[in-house]
Amino acid sequence: MSSVEINGLIKKHDKLFTENLPQCRGIQVYNEKLLTINGKEYRSWNPYRSKLAAALHKGIKNIRIQPDTQILYLGAATGTTVSHLSDIVTNGMVYAVESSPISMSKLLKVSTQRTNIAPLLMDANHPQRYKSFVPIVDILYQDISQRNQAEIFIKNMDSYLKKDGQGILMMKARSIDVALQPKKAYEQVGEELKKQGITITDVVELSPYEKDHAVLMATW
Ligand SMILES: C[S@@+](CC[C@H](N)C(=O)[O-])C[C@H]1O[C@@H](n2cnc3c(N)ncnc32)[C@H](O)[C@@H]1O
Repeated sequence: MSSVEINGLIKKHDKLFTENLPQCRGIQVYNEKLLTINGKEYRSWNPYRSKLAAALHKGIKNIRIQPDTQILYLGAATGTTVSHLSDIVTNGMVYAVESSPISMSKLLKVSTQRTNIAPLLMDANHPQRYKSFVPIVDILYQDISQRNQAEIFIKNMDSYLKKDGQGILMMKARSIDVALQPKKAYEQVGEELKKQGITITDVVELSPYEKDHAVLMATW
């Protein structure tokens, strides 16, 4: 695992924990373990449940998340990873886009406890529809297992990511093309992004935490 340099993120016995928001003390989001150290409460961040935790375990470097970071998160689901980002960006915001009303009902509950999450029941294929809610952001994070995941990422980068911002794309090989070897599928997405002037800074496979998934890091 890479050295841990993110605010409020600690490593203990090779496991990751984020410092729970004070107003959420004692509250679990997905039945994660809670730990108290020196009066602060920490939530275990499970790499089998969150691809970002998996990426950190796999040694991904230079994720630029600070307390005041603004994040646009596409494919928020019920808020597992979003809740850990909310622990970290204590003075920032996570704009959490999710298209499933069922997942959104759980995400809404999480976001009433955590005021730095803005839940948006929207389709990430149409970034203009959330223009009045989402500002230009420091980080675009996408975890959407759709065939056109590269297209969605490009559109949202174009609409919302600031010039020196960071894009984090979780890729699922089988969603890109079932017939392709995972490495080839990741290369295909990389090529699509490069054609749009996007620079790929890193690609890391997420096994054994997530089979046939990889994280791609991008900048303009
Ligand atoms: C793999 S899950 C995300 C898990 C989540 N990122 C986490 O770590 O907790 C993918 C999510 O993307 C959502 N999704 C799929 N297509 C979407 C779209 N076009 N716009 C917004 N969300 C979408 C799905 O409903 C699903 O909840």
